[in-house]
Amino acid sequence: MTASAAEAKEDPRRPALPLDVLVADDEESIRVTLSDDLEEVGHRVTTVATGDEALAAIASTRFDVVVTDLRMPGADGLEVVKAVEEKGAGTEVILITAHGSVESAVEAMRHGAYHYVLKPFLNDELLLLVARVARIRKLERENRSLHEDLGRLEGFENVIGTSAPMVEVLNVVRTVAKTDASILIEGESGTGKEVIARSIHRNSERRDGPFVALSCAALPETLLEAELFGHEAGAFTDAKKARHGRFELADGGTLFLDDVDDLGLPVQVKLLRALQERVIERVGGEKPIGVDIRVVTATKKNLAELMQEGKFREDLFYRLNVVPLRLPPLRERVEDIPLLVHHFVRRFRPRDEYEVPSDVMDALCLYPWPGNVRELENSVERAIAMAGDSRTLKKEHLLLPSPRFKNAAHVPATTTLKEVVRAAEIEHIKRVLKTTGNHKAQAAALLGISRKNLWEKMKEYEFGSD
Ligand SMILES: Nc1ncnc2c1ncn2[C@@H]1O[C@H](COP(=O)(O)OP(=O)(O)OP(=O)(O)O)[C@@H](O)[C@H]1O
Ligand SMILES: [Mg+2]
Repeated sequence: MTASAAEAKEDPRRPALPLDVLVADDEESIRVTLSDDLEEVGHRVTTVATGDEALAAIASTRFDVVVTDLRMPGADGLEVVKAVEEKGAGTEVILITAHGSVESAVEAMRHGAYHYVLKPFLNDELLLLVARVARIRKLERENRSLHEDLGRLEGFENVIGTSAPMVEVLNVVRTVAKTDASILIEGESGTGKEVIARSIHRNSERRDGPFVALSCAALPETLLEAELFGHEAGAFTDAKKARHGRFELADGGTLFLDDVDDLGLPVQVKLLRALQERVIERVGGEKPIGVDIRVVTATKKNLAELMQEGKFREDLFYRLNVVPLRLPPLRERVEDIPLLVHHFVRRFRPRDEYEVPSDVMDALCLYPWPGNVRELENSVERAIAMAGDSRTLKKEHLLLPSPRFKNAAHVPATTTLKEVVRAAEIEHIKRVLKTTGNHKAQAAALLGISRKNLWEKMKEYEFGSD
């Protein structure tokens, strides 16, 4: 380390983390010198000259620290402190006062001001205070990521989810990953089927081998067959050179076949034979090629039903479905939503302290997410892109359609409103209780009612506590 680097490191004015700072002062010299000094040590600074401007800035942007003069034209420092307190975004306020008016300062501290400095003051004094906030912020952040790491199971670093149904899925995965058993993953679009397939591979003895994925949807039969088993040169018109199929590519590893319900019956026969005999033949070839693979398949449909309808071979179904895994839709694991949101926010804005206000998080938790985790991921990414430089997620940028009562159309016109409400309440309370693993306090919080109220409703609807 060079001497100057060591110096820089030890300079106590240098923050552990660059912060967003608002400087509100009617005195231009203070605004200019303070913002220069703060920027020099790495902070991002916005300056305003009046209390009203400060209020507007606070309303629209999230700051880590607001440095405000007490006496200003328009709204004064005390109003600024109150506005910050009301917003509740974890912003620290440092009050500057020229009048030694301790009373106002005390009043400001009562409203959560972090500290005050008396004019005249040295900029360094202020820089040290801001550096202290930065140190606390850094600790908080480390603490939070520690917490989130705890929410992730070993070997499942890319799978976010601590809800009861997800933990159940991951427990099954952990138990069966090490075997070579075929696993069939059922789940709606975007529930994370491929994420789980990859974690099965990573937790298996085959982890150093290849993971090869192929979607069976929307490929014509002959192409799909060539994709799976490869082909020899001249096997069909476009086959100029011989090609390895996915089975060969996955040798020693895991083959993940998505949308397996889309396989036509002739390819099903070939797939079954390949799985039973562990040998394949390329299209247009005669030489049997041995393959050592583990198959994981996925479907958005109910494969057992397709089997009963004769659209899926029974023998293949049992071969693929040695271990069934059902990935619950996101609306059945609402408590994973905040974790997922923070995970995506951090992925899209890795270097920023990004804020998700509680009303926005509430809206995210209430939306039913028909496109599941993928839709949530896309919404967060879009909202961050639309918000530009702002580091606060905004509800209007999420573009969430307002939820509709899905089954209203099926209710006969003779039903009274009371009956409809009752049915909806019962259904929804049951769902939330299931999601929270019967945790009453959590369920009440999600439902937005008191525990007592929940208890009364459960009694009224004769739920029992099972
Ligand atoms: N538990 C999770 N933790 C973190 N990210 C997830 C999780 N589940 C899904 N995702 C993310 O959501 C997106 C969709 O996941 P994935 O592709 O695995 O879903 P899928 O069920 O295979 O979807 P489809 O049915 O459309 O094939 C991916 O970007 C994935 O990274
Ligand atoms: Mg998929």
